[in-house]
Amino acid sequence: MREHYYLDNAATSWPKPETVYTSMDAFFRQYGVNPGRAGHDLAVEAERMIVETRRLLAAFFGFTGDSQRVVFTQNATDSLNIAIYGLAAAGGHLISTRLEHNSVLRPLYHLERDQGIAVTRVARDAFGYIDPEDIRRALRPDTRAVVVNHASNVLGSVQDIAAIGAITREAGVPLVVDTCQSAGVLSIDMQALGIDILTFTGHKGLFGPMGIGGMIVREGLDLPPARVGGTGVDSISRFQPDEYPFHLEAGTVNIPGIAGLNAAQKWFAKLGREQLDDAGEVDHAQACVAALQHIDAREREHIATLESAFRDMPGVTVYGPGNNGARVATLSVNVDALPADQVGAMLDADYHVCVRPGLHCAPLVHEDEGTVAQKGTVRLAPGYFSDEEDLQQAIEGIRDIAS
Ligand SMILES: Cc1ncc(COP(=O)(O)O)c(C=O)c1O
Repeated sequence: MREHYYLDNAATSWPKPETVYTSMDAFFRQYGVNPGRAGHDLAVEAERMIVETRRLLAAFFGFTGDSQRVVFTQNATDSLNIAIYGLAAAGGHLISTRLEHNSVLRPLYHLERDQGIAVTRVARDAFGYIDPEDIRRALRPDTRAVVVNHASNVLGSVQDIAAIGAITREAGVPLVVDTCQSAGVLSIDMQALGIDILTFTGHKGLFGPMGIGGMIVREGLDLPPARVGGTGVDSISRFQPDEYPFHLEAGTVNIPGIAGLNAAQKWFAKLGREQLDDAGEVDHAQACVAALQHIDAREREHIATLESAFRDMPGVTVYGPGNNGARVATLSVNVDALPADQVGAMLDADYHVCVRPGLHCAPLVHEDEGTVAQKGTVRLAPGYFSDEEDLQQAIEGIRDIAS
């Protein structure tokens, strides 16, 4: 038996590509200094790497505007708080869904309770899909934003962001998308999909470390800064500069984290170029699209293996869209009426399978599935680096527990 069969990639991807570890170490040792606040060589090199990472991420997410609109934050929670509180600053109404993670749900509950903001939470169907027309129906003259999760971290269902984006664009309402479970697996073209604010976390599909995330705010849309402070530019001014990224980025950024994202971006591009073989010169965006097709195809194979094994397994309930729907490789199951944490503990102790039992910070999904009393679901999330042995070990473990 292996020491670990890691199927918890929806929580964080692990392992990372080797180059992420080595590049972070090398960068931190050689240039781990504060950028932009000094003119010496080391600071200039640190700044160069940060600027390059903004450019790589802009291209990765199909953002053709100024890459200074790529703002680094601590994680997606941080980005979502900045976006939601910023857009609700003038009061009014917000639209979201019942599929959201607490990083969206809780800011909205706080805004409702503390600031009298009205919130509509659009319901989803039995497979985990939002009908974009429900978003249209929820729009009001005072709607300030629509906030949706691209891929559910419980069910794996992927929303039709293009259809939602067409509706929000027509209505002139900003669309904020939480890409935590899709970034690094699905190709996301921010402009084509009509996304106004794209939020991401570094440590999941983007293969960076924890503690780094970000957001891309389209040009022409402004957010008030959530915190103000040092930027290394325009220090004489009493107020936070209007200029991005400094407008939303106060204080020293997570340089080792950004170096990790930088290395991961280059890993995606290399993987993509290997897939394209003799396609000649391709830019970063094109190479990454090829990489994501390859990653998505592999992860879909993984999830098809798990889903079809569990679908007909006596005593096992499978939640979500099934194999053929738009989905990512995140699968929730339960075994009879056993509490999810008990199944998770057995898989861990007896089979060394790392999964995540619980509500996965998305309580409304469990209210709708009727899985709150069972303490949620057992979530299996294979990743690009998972192999057949990982999957078979989990299948065997769940089969044994069920029988
Ligand atoms: C759908 C979704 N949104 C938001 C988050 C929050 O990400 P982070 O904890 O990196 O801020 C997660 C992480 O679990 C998630 O799965």
